[in-house]
Amino acid sequence: MSIRLGVCYYPEHWPEAMWESDAQRMQALGIKQVRIGEFAWSRIEPSPGDLRWEWLDRAIEVLARHGLDVVMCTPTATPPKWLIDRYDDVLAVDANGRKRAFGSRRHYDFSSDSYFEESQRIVRLLGQRYGNHPAITAWQLDNEYGCHQTVVSYSASAQRRFRAWLRARYGTIDALNTAWGTVFWSMEYRSFDEIDAPIGTVTEAHPSHRLDYRRFASDEVVRYNRMQVEILRAHAPGRVMVHNFMQMFVEFDHYPVAADLDVASWDSYPLGALEEMWFSPDTKARWLRTGHPDFASFNHDLYRGMSAQPFWVMEQQPGPVNWAHWNPHPLPGMVRLWSWEAFAHGAGCVSYFRWRQVPFAQEQMHAGLNRPDNRLDVGGVEAERVAQEIVTVEQAAGALAQPRGKVALLFDYAAKWLFEIHHQGADFHYPRFAFEYYSALRSLGLDVDIVPVDAPLDGYAMIVVPPLPIVPDDLPGRLQRSGAQVVFGPRSGSKTESLQIPTTLPPGPLQAILPMRVWRVESLRPNVTEAVQLDGQHGRAAHWRDLIEGEGIDILAAFGDGHPAIVRHQRVHYLASIFDADFTAGVFAQIARAAGLAPQHLPEGLRLQRRGGLVFALNYADAPLTLPDADGADFIVGGPELAPQGVAIYRARGA
Ligand code: GAL
Repeated sequence: MSIRLGVCYYPEHWPEAMWESDAQRMQALGIKQVRIGEFAWSRIEPSPGDLRWEWLDRAIEVLARHGLDVVMCTPTATPPKWLIDRYDDVLAVDANGRKRAFGSRRHYDFSSDSYFEESQRIVRLLGQRYGNHPAITAWQLDNEYGCHQTVVSYSASAQRRFRAWLRARYGTIDALNTAWGTVFWSMEYRSFDEIDAPIGTVTEAHPSHRLDYRRFASDEVVRYNRMQVEILRAHAPGRVMVHNFMQMFVEFDHYPVAADLDVASWDSYPLGALEEMWFSPDTKARWLRTGHPDFASFNHDLYRGMSAQPFWVMEQQPGPVNWAHWNPHPLPGMVRLWSWEAFAHGAGCVSYFRWRQVPFAQEQMHAGLNRPDNRLDVGGVEAERVAQEIVTVEQAAGALAQPRGKVALLFDYAAKWLFEIHHQGADFHYPRFAFEYYSALRSLGLDVDIVPVDAPLDGYAMIVVPPLPIVPDDLPGRLQRSGAQVVFGPRSGSKTESLQIPTTLPPGPLQAILPMRVWRVESLRPNVTEAVQLDGQHGRAAHWRDLIEGEGIDILAAFGDGHPAIVRHQRVHYLASIFDADFTAGVFAQIARAAGLAPQHLPEGLRLQRRGGLVFALNYADAPLTLPDADGADFIVGGPELAPQGVAIYRARGA
């Protein structure tokens, strides 16, 4: 499978007289595929039933004439004004019961019947017109499901569909009352019709009710996506079905959505992400113009694990963005580094967002490969270099097989919802802790596969499980049979499927392979940590502590007050807290060695990834460094001295 570059393009934003030279310059730059159309509904259908295809026909023909593959998008992320005004149930409703307004994007409700039908109609029309077009090789469905907090809606349609969802899940109202425990505070229901959305309550709404509402909302996204896929598979046979997911976005379960697609793609904005996510002010300053060295790769490894064909980066940051609190520009070299990093982790395509910076509307401050005056911007120059290097790498190494790590990290979307609903400590943030485990593994030079909890586990030497509150019944057996060294984070097995404490205490079903009980827990405020030590290594524990008792378990590390901090039974380890980065890396290094792996402590900012017999080395740091173990290696790109923001690609020993 060869690797290639793409770009996001909006012919409707530019005079038609520019299209020809745009396409010609894209081709000359080395771009192979162009994504169009995802927000173009008001130009395709300016009034109900008034379909204007001709401009789009011509735009596709111009791109096709220059040998560019087209990724056609459905425009459903931006229902036009007339459509909103025509029906009263399209706009989503927020947790305060207010309708969201027209005037930006993603204002629709996944549960709206009229919008579902309007979406079917426009998707079918597009499929009928372009499904067999030879230049259109892929279809992107909608754009970034859930962006701008749009997964959950509290509309009347959502409540109605939620009741039906509950009926299908529980069968009888008695079963629901028992599963949730509604006897508490006299919350018992006599019928499903009595159940509302869990908002507007005096104090916190019932956690099991809230968790089911999140599961329901996630299923609504799956249903909506499946509707589009089914229509397009019928009209566009053999074409790739793809959606562009977002970075570290966990508001719906991506695994079932991706299962209906051919390619999972995601939109990579490393600087915007660093600024907007949980990172400390120091970390944000440290990686200001590069992004965190593990952030993009976390997402690459996540999406690789759910994509039937090699995943894509559908939108790659090309320069400063507009939407973060502060928007620095990337250091020279970063657009190239991010591109190669994506390919190193298995990407089939890296597609830049966008061809040219647009001088109007919300995103006028967002860079493109070209400036608004149509001169090539820094990102464009770097993209051109990547295109040339792709040729060199493929000539030297042929098509690149997908990466396969020896370490698996189990990722679970519902864990995020559960800990958010039932946090018990205000900063128990699942994606952050999953990322910190991943980052510790990456700092040891280990390649990681991020996989769902029900993935096959054979072939892994080490399996790392960030806090997993609901442990599926078959997981302990599958872990045991894998033969891997296993590490669980705190709060694992702490809840049942319906969000109750297991009768045998946490870690519930895990007790089959880990004979321990969590008899008490405590959460720690942000300025409180507990000392911890393991074989002379000192660290700090933060956020949370599980207090553990058990028989036949080894206590590997203890807190300052004597409570067990890390316990083990045979190959299964349990961490009773969230530890600082160095301590976590130290613990994982020890377990990795026990698993027969060779962890190495990489210099700060250096990251290594293996793919298809090649090693990709990336330098996020601001100083040059010498690659460890690369003496005499056969370099295809770069050499053993890696400049800041540099990339080197060489053959793995023995490959
Ligand atoms: C993405 C989105 C694009 C554009 C981009 C700006 O979230 O899909 O349409 O808004 O961000 O960075």
